[in-house]
Amino acid sequence: MTQDEMKRTAAREAVKYLSIGDVVGVGTGSTTNYFIEELSEWGGAVGAIASSEATADRLRNCGVPILDLNGVESFSVYVDGADEINHKLEMIKGGGGALTREKIVAAVAKTFICIVDETKVVDVLGQFPLPVEVLPMAASYVSRVIRGLGGDPEIRKNFVTDNGNVILDTYGLSIENAVELERKLNNVVGVVTNGLFSERPADLMVVGGANGIKVTRS
Ligand code: A5P
Repeated sequence: MTQDEMKRTAAREAVKYLSIGDVVGVGTGSTTNYFIEELSEWGGAVGAIASSEATADRLRNCGVPILDLNGVESFSVYVDGADEINHKLEMIKGGGGALTREKIVAAVAKTFICIVDETKVVDVLGQFPLPVEVLPMAASYVSRVIRGLGGDPEIRKNFVTDNGNVILDTYGLSIENAVELERKLNNVVGVVTNGLFSERPADLMVVGGANGIKVTRS
């Protein structure tokens, strides 16, 4: 089975956790793109909250109505991929640069379902460079602070987020205490969000693998 097939299998499985009439939060990335196709084919959602402009475009093209998060007090399920996920269902996200909106949508959802292929499951987070979204004028300052924390930040070239900011991809971190690092980074002035999703981890991890689907609950 190819990695793309594993992603699609996980995406297809996630639809089984939805109920007719749900508002569904939708993440960003190649795995989520498969989920959008499955969601549209299923047809049971009344609408979707998009975590990026790219996802909103895809949802519209698939005929799924887009809802404004400000008009929704809560909703049942958020489905998104991850760049890495550990066994506590803490994640690194933001490889696609949509981390801030993803974190906002995830915060409002009652249940966060993370869909990944088996290559994304790790014991310790940090092999994948941790994305940190930063206001452009703070990029150098935040880079210095990150170096002081032991990371090696590199500004993502030719990339501006949906919010008009830049991303520092941070190499060289072995993240044993994700909650502590997530808080520390969020406390640095100029940081908008970092790609650690540990204060609000996933509730369910759906892994597509060579031997089929594995579901883990937090
Ligand atoms: C987008 O900003 C990311 O958080 C993605 O959810 C994550 O990078 C996973 O993407 P893929 O499904 O493309 O690997």
